[in-house]
Amino acid sequence: MLYVTRREVFSASHRLYKKELTDQENEKIFGKCSNPSGHGHNYVLEVIVCGEINPKTGYVIDLKLLKKIIREIVISKIDHKNLNVDVDFLHGIIPTTENIAVAIWKQLEKRIPDGKLYSIKLFETENNYIEYRGSNEN
Ligand code: NI
Repeated sequence: MLYVTRREVFSASHRLYKKELTDQENEKIFGKCSNPSGHGHNYVLEVIVCGEINPKTGYVIDLKLLKKIIREIVISKIDHKNLNVDVDFLHGIIPTTENIAVAIWKQLEKRIPDGKLYSIKLFETENNYIEYRGSNEN
């Protein structure tokens, strides 16, 4: 089994909060991430596809194709956007790194033509990242 990684970067803003709570209660849970007017991150996304080498091409998946798919399905929708408001596949969820990683997985899972989606890694800062490898039901 081989693991092929495509790395993309995007910038986006968000606010972590729950509507039903006061600003003070939100600050208790989410700290400065609940700043009422939001804040931004330079995210790094790694999409890892696993599979065997196709003897016809020598590839697991053509990385040019993987790049195109990720940019069309994910990056074009979230880069320079407000993650609380602008992104259809994030509506109704708190845009934590965890939730964004799961949402990106759901967008990409069935769109990978060769190999299989293995992992989504989403870095919110240099030191903090989340990895999602799908639900246990898969
Ligand atoms: Ni944040």
